[in-house]
Amino acid sequence: MIKKLLFIVLILRISSSLQAQQVTPVYLDVNKPLEERVENALSQMTTEEKVALCHAQSKFSSKGVPRLGIPEVWTDDGPHGIREEVLWDEWGGAGWTNDYCTAFPALTCLAASFNPELSLLYGKSIGEEARYRNKNVLLGPGVNIYRTPLNGRNFEFLGEDPYLASRMVIPYIQGVQSIGVAACVKHFALNNQETWRGHINVNVSDRALYEIYLPAFKAAVQEGKVWSIMGSYNQFRGEHCCHNNLLLNNILKQEWNFDGVVITDWGGTHNTDQAVKNGLDLEMGTYTNGLTSRSKLPYSEYYLANPFLKGIKEGKYDIALLNDKARRILRLIFRTTMSANRPFGRFVSPEHSEAGRKIAQEGIVLLKNEKQLLPIPAGKYNKIAVIGENAVRSLVIGGGSSSLKVAYEVSPLEGLIAKYGKDHIVQSLGYASGPSMYGREAKSKLNADSLVAAAVDVAKNADVVLFVGGLNKNHFQDCEGGDRKSLDLPFDQDKLIEALLKVNKNVVIVMLSGNAVAMPWVDKVPAIVQGWYLGSEAGNALTDVISGDVNPSGKLPFSFPKKLEDNAAHFFGKLSYPGDSVNVYYKEDILVGYRWFDTKNIAPLFPFGYGLSYTSFAYSKPTADKAEVNSDGTVKVSFTLTNSGKTDGAETAQLYVSKPKSAVTRAAKELKAFKKVFLKAGKSTTVTLDVPVSSFAFYNEAKHSWEVESGNYTLLLGSSSRDIKGKVNIQVK
Ligand code: GLC
Repeated sequence: MIKKLLFIVLILRISSSLQAQQVTPVYLDVNKPLEERVENALSQMTTEEKVALCHAQSKFSSKGVPRLGIPEVWTDDGPHGIREEVLWDEWGGAGWTNDYCTAFPALTCLAASFNPELSLLYGKSIGEEARYRNKNVLLGPGVNIYRTPLNGRNFEFLGEDPYLASRMVIPYIQGVQSIGVAACVKHFALNNQETWRGHINVNVSDRALYEIYLPAFKAAVQEGKVWSIMGSYNQFRGEHCCHNNLLLNNILKQEWNFDGVVITDWGGTHNTDQAVKNGLDLEMGTYTNGLTSRSKLPYSEYYLANPFLKGIKEGKYDIALLNDKARRILRLIFRTTMSANRPFGRFVSPEHSEAGRKIAQEGIVLLKNEKQLLPIPAGKYNKIAVIGENAVRSLVIGGGSSSLKVAYEVSPLEGLIAKYGKDHIVQSLGYASGPSMYGREAKSKLNADSLVAAAVDVAKNADVVLFVGGLNKNHFQDCEGGDRKSLDLPFDQDKLIEALLKVNKNVVIVMLSGNAVAMPWVDKVPAIVQGWYLGSEAGNALTDVISGDVNPSGKLPFSFPKKLEDNAAHFFGKLSYPGDSVNVYYKEDILVGYRWFDTKNIAPLFPFGYGLSYTSFAYSKPTADKAEVNSDGTVKVSFTLTNSGKTDGAETAQLYVSKPKSAVTRAAKELKAFKKVFLKAGKSTTVTLDVPVSSFAFYNEAKHSWEVESGNYTLLLGSSSRDIKGKVNIQVK
């Protein structure tokens, strides 16, 4: 009897202790498989809670599930650094004092480095800053193709070539997401101009869509495993891209198996029906419908808010559509805020400054250097004149949503003084742009003639002149929400440069911009450096290159045309760019950038992939490891690269593919491989470029599939798209 009683007591104690230990629900158990956690959480949520996940609750956040302890989603701009905190429902800053960030170089600079390893470093660094600021979605990188030099947002993107953009976007995403922050590749898709961006309907062939405009997004999804993607404002074939059935359901979610979250651009949603059915998951925006009216509870009136809930309750919308959206958003939350091994971030750390400086150093492009005017070692000259507003103007602010409130920014002038000493630097503004905010442009109150006169006076008495100009982030310059009005440099810089040349032949032009500009003085100046928006370390990185501490190794990620009409998008007139305010027609089709210049034999001012060095490189004849290859094979092209100069340096060898006789129209050449090689002076190395034959495929519109033609191909080895060092022919069986 006693034994039985003891046994019963034992059982009771065990069961009570079990009850006491609340069994952790699966979705909260960080060690459970992701999909199990998603399903478990979904099974416990009400319809209202699921709908609440699918739309904004504030300017940059959306609801979690408070009742279940599932945290909110906090997104933030941008591709170059973490935007300052804003007020709950305003664009304006909240005035916090702990959100001064590190500004990294603009993505045109990263692309110009042609160095995927720097892309990984970039992603990890900016991911750490987002993590530290408790953002779990970084609204970047942008990968829209550089179709026209007038596009206000080119500075945020990775250039004109889909292969370069694809190779550079993957490590950036992997870097960001390795810190437990979701990247959000944008703007999907065909957001290649700012003029009428909110509604312009893009007309482009399937071939150009698949071969030029989608590859970087496809790489981001299939190789970068990106956890979210942002729909673009414009329309494609009559549907807004934030709820476009072809782009989001057919291509992104079915063909590419995207399992992440489709987020709208802010205010990019236009109706509930399409938002529910066409693949949109999370509606972000500004006011009620993301565009116009504001009421006391604007977020509950979003298209994916009450109207969606009402439609579900009335049976108008299948609950499966809601569950799919909720699943994707839960998956993003479990991959970020609620993931097991989420690293900690850091903010404005010395490592981030070093990363920014390195990316800037490797992205700067040396376009011209006669009479070895560069580099300028400290002590070589007594008087160095620094002229131009971009030597002293902040270039991390402005430009739209990528604008940053930074902990510090070293201007070109500050960097130069730190290196050469203030006794050897004499500065004059030369020209002044007006104060400008996103959307407004004002004229400077300073007298332009007196600025020029003062600058000429300084230049006259200097040993060498460093002109630091270019574009800036003013409206109608490199800025979101508007395109440039011309290819020309603004603020009468051309006239100033001519005036400086009259009194001093030793003029180094330093262009800071995110776009190509016309250079009427190109034959008169001995040296030209293409700098980008270089971020917090701008002045240091520029000085590193100018002084020779760093040997420039950047290559242009887009072509510089001699005149606007030489550019493909501008060749076909207004309907091709910017369109007629309703439609725009990409009449150049697949012939974008160098694909146009090299097929039509139009000489660019500076070609895609071009960039000089302080040393020189010699290429041996290339050889292929096989003369014949199957369509599923790979060709290895090898050659010997020699640093034939006196300075250590890096060269990016590029491999282009050409098919002389093709059944379809093809570009004269297409980039299919590149490799950046660091070599000490006098050293040689064998370089091998692997080219999968599958990358020779063209998109067959009739069959709606990729197709590799058999027959003869020519592989062109180049130091730029126009400087071909050697060729090999191969037969594809
Ligand atoms: C802007 C931009 C987008 C940005 C978003 C949030 O309109 O198009 O790139 O991330 O809205 O600021």
